[in-house]
Amino acid sequence: MSKSLSHVFLPVFGGTALVLAGALVFANRNFGQSKIEILETRIGQVEAHAAAAQEKAKTEAARAAQLELKVQEIQAAAAERVANGANLTAPAPSHEGTYGLGRPALEEEIAAWDVDVLPDGRGLPVGSGDVWTGEEVFADRCASCHGEFAEGVDNWPVLAGGFDTLANEDPVKTVGSYWPHLSTAWDYISRSMPFGEAGTLTADETYAIVAYILYSNDLVDDDFELSNENFAEFEMYNKDGFVVDTRPETEYAEWRKEPCMENCKAESAVTMRSVFLVETPPEGGSNSVMNDATVEGLPTFTADGPSFIPAAAPKPEEEAAAEPAVQEAEETDEATELVAAGAKVFKKCKACHQVGEGAKHGTGPALNGIVGANAGSVEGFKYSKAMKAASEAGLVWTDEEMAAFLTKPKDYMKGTRMSFAGLRKPDDVEAVIVYLKSFGS
Ligand code: HEC
Ligand code: HEC
Repeated sequence: MSKSLSHVFLPVFGGTALVLAGALVFANRNFGQSKIEILETRIGQVEAHAAAAQEKAKTEAARAAQLELKVQEIQAAAAERVANGANLTAPAPSHEGTYGLGRPALEEEIAAWDVDVLPDGRGLPVGSGDVWTGEEVFADRCASCHGEFAEGVDNWPVLAGGFDTLANEDPVKTVGSYWPHLSTAWDYISRSMPFGEAGTLTADETYAIVAYILYSNDLVDDDFELSNENFAEFEMYNKDGFVVDTRPETEYAEWRKEPCMENCKAESAVTMRSVFLVETPPEGGSNSVMNDATVEGLPTFTADGPSFIPAAAPKPEEEAAAEPAVQEAEETDEATELVAAGAKVFKKCKACHQVGEGAKHGTGPALNGIVGANAGSVEGFKYSKAMKAASEAGLVWTDEEMAAFLTKPKDYMKGTRMSFAGLRKPDDVEAVIVYLKSFGS
């Protein structure tokens, strides 16, 4: 209730304040004088506004009259066609096997759709345009987005340059550097540019713009003129840069072999299970551990939590594997402890590396069998130049080399992509190497 009352009272109090203020104004004559001046200026402004509004109304009335005329013209034209025997909505004469739907397209309708231009120049309208005209039209219609020199404004597409970048990781693909056929430029621009005003360029303007884009790409001189006659002769920079896709002949056959559907692998054994524990470990992070494959070794989960929590001590793969691995089987308790410690240290690596069965590449390569292997040689991973160079120079990940690398990766190998500060404690380094060895070496 107080809310609705305030609506009533506020204007009343406000009004009172205004009356009081008014009284003060009249009490001061100088102030009254300047007030008159202000009011006179205001009246001037209001009159000017009124005049402008009237002008605008007049223009709009004229435009409406114009449009009305146009509608009448169109109606008259349609009436004339009908009078001449054309029935625009009449169904086509029914033929055997058809449903009498639609009508043959008018020639004009087909022409409106049939605008494609082919690499050999077929489909081009007669016309021409030179670089200088193109520069003007481009500045007027295209430069706001593509830049005065076709260099692209902000994130709008660049249309020129990029010639030596095609083999780079991040190539600049422009009309000049990348497009193999000039017809694509003509066709694309004529159909879809200026963005939001497609279809408003004349044929000559389009020739001129295309000539200017070639000029911006240093592909022609400033006196170049493009026309439907010399169009097909023009050879683009990247005309040989595309290859015909031969995969249907060369590769499909390879994939079409009868797949094996049963008893394909001689034998398979589950060697490990991944168990995700609900418990949050004291040091934070996830506590995913690898366990032996015995069912008895796995906890059961109930509403009260896991039936027991297995020690986060993954055993070496070989030990659990079917084939006998005599040496590993004789591992001392001390080694098992080191592996466990290493597993813990490896949490720091997990953001980028996977290890163990089914390990995939992440930011860093999968690390199965990495100890003792050639550096930079894991199949399918894209190494830095530095790592590739070390690989070619024959670097092998012995315990010592690996330890040096893991202690200070960036110092050990200038330019490595492994963005990791390093392990400060020698014990951690030793443990993680033993841990990695447990996945083969
Ligand atoms: C309002 C901004 C704007 C204007 C004006 C404009 N364009 Fe574009 N242009 C674009 C956008 C956006 C694209 C990308 C469209 C897409 O990828 O679908 C583009 C793409 C292009 C491309 C293809 C680039 C490529 O490599 O894929 C060409 C060529 C082009 N425009 C030429 C022109 C020409 C010529 C004009 C003037 C007649 C013009 N544009 C006017 C925004 C604009
Ligand atoms: C931020 C991501 C990241 C972290 C964290 C990280 N690495 Fe790496 N690691 C990489 C990348 C990327 C490479 C490839 C380096 C290159 O190509 O220069 C790499 C390479 C390696 C290599 C060499 C692989 C080979 O094929 O030669 C080893 C060994 C390695 N890392 C071990 C570790 C260990 C152990 C840890 C944890 C203590 C760790 N990394 C932490 C990203 C990481």
